[in-house]
Amino acid sequence: MDVLFVNIGKLVQVENEPKKWVAGGDMAKLPCLENAYLLVVDGLIKDFGPMSQLPDFSQKDSLVEVDVEGRLILPSFCDSHTHLVYAGSREMEYVDKIKGLSYEEIAKRGGGILNSAKRLHLATEEELYQSALNRIHEIAGFGTGAVEIKSGYGLTTANEIKMLRVIKQLKETTPLEIKATFLGAHAVPLEFKGRQSEYVNLIVNEMIPQVATEKLADYVDVFCDKGFFTVPETEKILAAAAKYDIRGKIHANELAFSGGIQVGVAHGALSVDHLEFVGDEEIKCLLGSETMPTILPGAAFFLNMPYSPARKMMQAGLPVALASDFNPGSSPSGNMKFIMSLGCINYRMTPEEVINAATINSAYAMGIQKTHGSICRGKVANLYITTRIPGYEFLPYAYTSNLIERVMLNGEFVS
Ligand code: NIG
Ligand code: FE
Repeated sequence: MDVLFVNIGKLVQVENEPKKWVAGGDMAKLPCLENAYLLVVDGLIKDFGPMSQLPDFSQKDSLVEVDVEGRLILPSFCDSHTHLVYAGSREMEYVDKIKGLSYEEIAKRGGGILNSAKRLHLATEEELYQSALNRIHEIAGFGTGAVEIKSGYGLTTANEIKMLRVIKQLKETTPLEIKATFLGAHAVPLEFKGRQSEYVNLIVNEMIPQVATEKLADYVDVFCDKGFFTVPETEKILAAAAKYDIRGKIHANELAFSGGIQVGVAHGALSVDHLEFVGDEEIKCLLGSETMPTILPGAAFFLNMPYSPARKMMQAGLPVALASDFNPGSSPSGNMKFIMSLGCINYRMTPEEVINAATINSAYAMGIQKTHGSICRGKVANLYITTRIPGYEFLPYAYTSNLIERVMLNGEFVS
């Protein structure tokens, strides 16, 4: 179906040439077109412009015209960091947290990631697929059109492969653009307690070769942080993945100045994520690199953690991306609109900055900036139409209202 949208109150995030990312002071700029039209042909953005210059399309009989009557159109969110394949929820740990236990204390007691690993072991591929599919439908309704999904609740070769096969099935059966990340180094499984280096050897010698041979992962991740995996272990894993041309996306500096940012940048990671602990040295290291600093405001909010110095990073000239970290332990929500609100409220980012961070920059952080993340001729028609709102600032402002009326993915309406 080819579609011509007319009377768009504001067409947000328009580009004539696709940008790699938006950095520093440019993050405050959000190119928009007022009173616009947008033409979608064969699932791609074909053209757009002001209504005053609307070409005559009356000869095109397959064209469906949609009058949006002043509503806004934005490119779909790209959520570059999630763990949305999981078995069961962890609300009892949430209660423990309310009572004062820290994330690390819960993890030490066999809760946390190991709790999810236990449950995942018992779940079938079909059960995992169905529950993840429900989450995918939910986030699509929230305006997400592309999502990265990690393994990391398997922690054995068989169970990691099981998770990655579920992600593969989601790639094949849903209209979202999906990237898969292998996160065997998410936690040390109980069977390897006290033998962490042996578990790292298993990841390097068995898991990565098998994952790569079956082409199940686009990226590799390591939880490089205090109490989890060390810098030398992270190096070893990144080097093993590099042999198969698999780039890193690192969980870094969430719990401490872990060196995760430095090791990620040194190995050409596509992104380093979390970043609660970032100082001058980390910023210096990121400047001039090809690595996207990615903030996960949902996890910091849910765990009551210190906030990443987003403003300091942008002032230094860095780009910043936002992602949901959707997972059962530290961020049980994949609502990117709410993530933008947290970006504004807790990190003092402006609406322009959070929209850039959740579209163009997060597209880069999952390697799809050439095809997604903005309204640009030739890019995939992944977008949403808002309800009647006064402007894009209203999206993060009205932080619990669902303001998304219709969603288009690959040029087709999915809601
Ligand atoms: O990104 N930090 C590490 N991993 C996840 C938490 C996963 C969990 O608690 O299940 C995160 O926050
Ligand atoms: Fe995460």
